[in-house]
Amino acid sequence: MPRMGRSLFSSTLLPLLLVALMSLGLMSWAWTAPDCTIADSSLLPNLSYYIPFCSLAPGLHIFASCSNVKDLAQTLTAVPQDIEALCLQGTVPILSTDAFPHFSSLRLLRLQLGTIRVTSGAFQRLEQLQHLSFEHHAPCCLSLFLSPDALEPLRFLKSLSFQGYCLNNSQNIQLPMKLSHLTLRHSCLIDLQELQGLFPNLVPDSSPTASPRPWSPFLEMLDLSGNLQLSQVGVRALHGLQLHSLRLDGTPLSALTLPDSGLLHLDSLSLVGTGIEKLPVNVTKYFELRALDLGRNQIQNIEDEDLSSCHSLELLSFHANGLQFLPTRFLSALPQLQRLNLSMNKLGPTLVLPEGLVSSNLRVLDLSHNELSVLPCGAFSFLPRLQELWLSGNNISNISSESLKGLRWLKTLDLSWNQIKVLNPGWLSFLPALTSLNLLGTLLERILGKQLQGPQKLSHLQLGSLNTLEIYPPWPPALLSLEAWAEGYIQFSIPRGEPFLFLENLTLQTHNMLLVPNNITVHFPSLRHLTLRGCNPHIFSSRQSLGFFPELPVLEHLHFWSTHNGPEDLHLSGMPRLRVLELGDLDFLLDSSPVKLEVLLKELPSLQVLALSNLNLGNLSVSSFTNLGLLRLLLLNSEWALGLDSSLQELIPQMPQYVYFSDVTFACQCESSWVAPWAIRAPNTFVYGLEKSICMANASDYLRTPLLSFLSDHCPYDAGLQAFLCSFTLALLLTVLTLLGCPRWLWLHHLRTLFRTWWWKLGGRGPRSQFRYDVFLSYCAQDQAWVLEKLVPALEKPPPAGEGLRLCLPERDFGAGQDRMDAMAASMESSRATLCVLSRQALSSPWCNLELRLATYFLVAKPGTTRLLLLSLEPIDWRQLRSYHRLTRWLQKKDYFNLPQSRVEWNDFCEQLRRRLRNAGQERDDQGL
Ligand SMILES: *[C@@H]1O[C@H](CO)[C@@H](O)[C@H](O)[C@H]1NC(C)=O
Ligand SMILES: *[C@@H]1O[C@H](CO)[C@@H](O)[C@H](O)[C@H]1NC(C)=O
Ligand SMILES: *[C@@H]1O[C@H](CO)[C@@H](O)[C@H](O)[C@H]1NC(C)=O
Ligand SMILES: *[C@@H]1O[C@H](CO)[C@@H](O)[C@H](O)[C@H]1NC(C)=O
Ligand SMILES: *[C@@H]1O[C@H](CO)[C@@H](O)[C@H](O)[C@H]1NC(C)=O
Ligand SMILES: *[C@@H]1O[C@H](CO)[C@@H](O)[C@H](O)[C@H]1NC(C)=O
Repeated sequence: MPRMGRSLFSSTLLPLLLVALMSLGLMSWAWTAPDCTIADSSLLPNLSYYIPFCSLAPGLHIFASCSNVKDLAQTLTAVPQDIEALCLQGTVPILSTDAFPHFSSLRLLRLQLGTIRVTSGAFQRLEQLQHLSFEHHAPCCLSLFLSPDALEPLRFLKSLSFQGYCLNNSQNIQLPMKLSHLTLRHSCLIDLQELQGLFPNLVPDSSPTASPRPWSPFLEMLDLSGNLQLSQVGVRALHGLQLHSLRLDGTPLSALTLPDSGLLHLDSLSLVGTGIEKLPVNVTKYFELRALDLGRNQIQNIEDEDLSSCHSLELLSFHANGLQFLPTRFLSALPQLQRLNLSMNKLGPTLVLPEGLVSSNLRVLDLSHNELSVLPCGAFSFLPRLQELWLSGNNISNISSESLKGLRWLKTLDLSWNQIKVLNPGWLSFLPALTSLNLLGTLLERILGKQLQGPQKLSHLQLGSLNTLEIYPPWPPALLSLEAWAEGYIQFSIPRGEPFLFLENLTLQTHNMLLVPNNITVHFPSLRHLTLRGCNPHIFSSRQSLGFFPELPVLEHLHFWSTHNGPEDLHLSGMPRLRVLELGDLDFLLDSSPVKLEVLLKELPSLQVLALSNLNLGNLSVSSFTNLGLLRLLLLNSEWALGLDSSLQELIPQMPQYVYFSDVTFACQCESSWVAPWAIRAPNTFVYGLEKSICMANASDYLRTPLLSFLSDHCPYDAGLQAFLCSFTLALLLTVLTLLGCPRWLWLHHLRTLFRTWWWKLGGRGPRSQFRYDVFLSYCAQDQAWVLEKLVPALEKPPPAGEGLRLCLPERDFGAGQDRMDAMAASMESSRATLCVLSRQALSSPWCNLELRLATYFLVAKPGTTRLLLLSLEPIDWRQLRSYHRLTRWLQKKDYFNLPQSRVEWNDFCEQLRRRLRNAGQERDDQGL
């Protein structure tokens, strides 16, 4: 081949070939899916804070969320098949038969695919599906055609939702028997009667042809919110439908007269944001409702006579209505009422609650955001069963025990974000059952333990002031969770005792933590979740006068946002059970020195999740991640000028299962060029976010160069692979030197034993498999004579004298006129192993390099699927190679061979080589199975 052709090959065709190989690989199995997020939210509950994904149903954790979907089948090939939830956004005009062939464990499917037709067998393999939704979020409406029997295979479907779609092209959709939630939001329903035509088996006896739904007597919930044109109710439109709960939020209700619909047994009705100004008396009267939500309406007055129709209500919400008072008979007219939500109204400044029966059943009362400033004495005394009282966001400045009198069963009291300046001693004395008290956002600077005395079971405490907060003993004895906020400092005064023996959750939001006296040690033997926001990292100092947490034996989750004066010398120790570490810097400054991960993470043996934000990590290298063998999720968020050193390639086989880059700016450097092929074809790892990342050449570079295009444009195409090559050769050299260093008979003996064991194990008769060749032989023209004369005959010698290996030699076995690159890639793929013959000449020849690079590429891209063996013919000058490209892990010792100098060992050597090649091939067979 002419010279020019060769260089053309190496400059343009090699990358193309690699891309082709990668996409071949993608077809079979891949984690990295462009435009998809794949995650396990059980690892990090707060994951959605860092990377966007669709909302899930409770209990589902493993999901894929893909955007820009155009070719559904192609997108799905890149999604792991054991996911529980799948969200797809894009444009797919038709879901054809068997559209989801491999997802038998799927429970939730959310489709935002534009105008769509669903053909009858589209969901046929989704037997476990419980939640299905079609969504379109722009203004109403797109058209959706659903074939009548499309839902039939979904025997376990519980909820079905259409948002922003008109279904008037579809008719006779058969609903699955187990369906309990049906949603048609922002649709173009005009008349409730249309539901009968759409879903004939929704209403049992509406049509004689429809099969009834005897197994499902009730539809739990019908959500028709946002149907702006829905204003008619055909008489008896829903006759016979046994519906528990109906939502008509955001639907103009003026002309809607539900009683005419023929509905039976409605329990719960939601009319949020419908613009009504009066209680919908006719509706409440007709249904004997138990729950009515009238939030965000304009009901400013309630007439006593309207209330008589509400006597059955247990739950009533007037959230955000501008109510100014409640009629005097309010509570006596609602004897069943258990939850009353009056938040965001205008009931203040002095609370006047209507007198009620002392036997009132009210358990939950929400009076937050009502401009209240005075709670009169005995304000709640006729609500003896009250368990939760929400008074957040009012103007209360002074609260006395008298105003809380009579609340014998109160468990939760929320007084956050008021103007509280004083707490009278004993103010909680009438609340013996209190377990949870929220005093965030007060104006208190000192909280004395005796102010918290009274409730014996107080276990959840939230305390906060604007600037400083000093907390004095005695501490409530049974605290399980404690949250404290104050911008400047929080001082804990603990003269004696161990106040936090049972504490499980601790949240502190402050700049400084102080302990008085400062020579004591506080123990947190039960602490599992620790959240620190804005704290100085000294809190973890090992010096006793500063450190607040000497040891946290059962801590599992640490969420720490420090301030800029630096987590750089932060050292976390004494947390043997820590599983989840979220670490970030609130005010990261460019000139702060880089955080040293190796120091930070030195003593966290159980870490499974590591999420790092805004930390100035600088250049990450393999040493940053020592001892993190259990790591399953690594998230790098808001990093600036991040470098991923080429030594990190060593970690590829042990990389965490999930690696996310969110909002990361990389350094434009070719050292990181390995990430491009890795991210596309990462064997064990799902990589998210690289395609969106940009890089910066230096501090003043604001060009926003996409990282991947920088790497492909500026880094020689083979920089990464060259690095592998160097690593190999160096590793080879080192190992060979080591081997040569020990007494020769020792390692020979060792090898021989090894080979013999395997020989017996395999019984000497491995099945001839799909591989065409046993060994692909790569060598240089300069070494050809030796290879053909010596090596080939030795390896091909038939049994019993030899192994009878089938060799592929480019010069001999490639067809005339065949494209050498194609042939080479194909032959390597169809060979069990690749043997590279190395010599000084080999390393300087572009062709030999190329073949070696290809083989190395396979090795890195698919560890375990390709066997590469190296045979070195002579000592090679390695001095120019860089020492940190260590890839020892890629090659096992038994895969290097050094040509013996003396004649005597030649036969021995050939024997070993033959057997190693054969065994290597066998391993590949095994892995391929
Ligand atoms: C999630 O993380 C963010 C940032 O770290 C934090 O502000 C937020 O409170 C967290 N939410 C939960 C539910 O932990
Ligand atoms: C479906 O309803 C929309 C909105 O009312 C209307 O514009 C459209 O013409 C209807 N299509 C059919 C086929 O009835
Ligand atoms: C309530 O029903 C009565 C008759 O049952 C009717 O006269 C009245 O107009 C209805 N009120 C409203 C607000 O629909
Ligand atoms: C009252 O209603 C609002 C709006 O729906 C809600 O956010 C709030 O949690 C409710 N209060 C209680 C105590 O449930
Ligand atoms: C502690 O926090 C975790 C996570 O937020 C929560 O699941 C758990 O219920 C909390 N425990 C207590 C005692 O509050
Ligand atoms: C702390 O210091 C005080 C005096 O400053 C001393 O009385 C006390 O014993 C010390 N406590 C401990 C635990 O060292």
